[in-house]
Amino acid sequence: MATVTVVGSINADLVVEVDRHPRPGETLLGSGGEVSAGGKGANQAVACAKLGTQVCMVGAVGTDAYAEEALKYLRTSGVELSDVSAVDGPTGLAVITVDSSGENTIVVVSGANAQVDGGFVDARRGAVEGAEVVVVQGEIPASGFSAAVQLATGRVVVNLAPVIDVERADLLRADPLVANEHEAGLILTQLGELQPPATEEEMAAVLLAQGFASVVITRGAGGAVVGHGDTITPIPAPRVEAIDTTGAGDAFVGALAARLAHGASLVDASAYASRVAALSTTRRGTQSAYPTAADELP
Ligand code: RIB
Repeated sequence: MATVTVVGSINADLVVEVDRHPRPGETLLGSGGEVSAGGKGANQAVACAKLGTQVCMVGAVGTDAYAEEALKYLRTSGVELSDVSAVDGPTGLAVITVDSSGENTIVVVSGANAQVDGGFVDARRGAVEGAEVVVVQGEIPASGFSAAVQLATGRVVVNLAPVIDVERADLLRADPLVANEHEAGLILTQLGELQPPATEEEMAAVLLAQGFASVVITRGAGGAVVGHGDTITPIPAPRVEAIDTTGAGDAFVGALAARLAHGASLVDASAYASRVAALSTTRRGTQSAYPTAADELP
């Protein structure tokens, strides 16, 4: 069976709904305030597992009351958790506001995710070395990121979200690099491109010229752009009525990894991921909103 290992963050998400996002210094009334499972790593692992792929998670939660909630959907979706540890201190926490158009802002407090460093990942190397696809993001220390991509013998999917400083050689292990327009611009700056290009197609071309084997630049309701070799392919997104875009990028990455692990081409995997991400925006929340293989996609 195809296997995917996700090395990444596990958070508790504190979600607040607002009509509009507050300006600096402004106080607004909101609603909600529920705590649910999140973290880019965990979201991607759950999105991938719910689509029927065997997934292993490498990560950490704290020893506080949020830990169980953070692990809830990882457990129910069958993700292998023997390489997830409970470490002293708090679980990672994300404070999320979602406005009436479904757009969000997110502030993350690392908590236990800060322990997922090079030594932590190296101690769980079996889970990384054996996987057909390894997925890693930017919500763990750079040394943990480096260890994951260096230990991987399978395909490496990098979603550098948020954009953290990592070694160029480690970043170039990505095949593909998955980034939204904003992250792609920051990565290009990090790689020394002083004038980041204006369009996602141009960004993809410049990233390929920088040495990436392949790139996927996501653009929300505008779909994605896939760059591979000397080909740039636009991927449309189905039209949906979005009510919450939180974690849609993670749904995309998880679905992409699932399809790549089953041998799909990058273009086909991206087209599928785009539909999975679109569906996830029509439901509130992250992991609970992700479809299973039985769901009809838009
Ligand atoms: O991408 C959405 C995720 O970002 C949230 O679940 C939050 O935990 C942060 O990691």
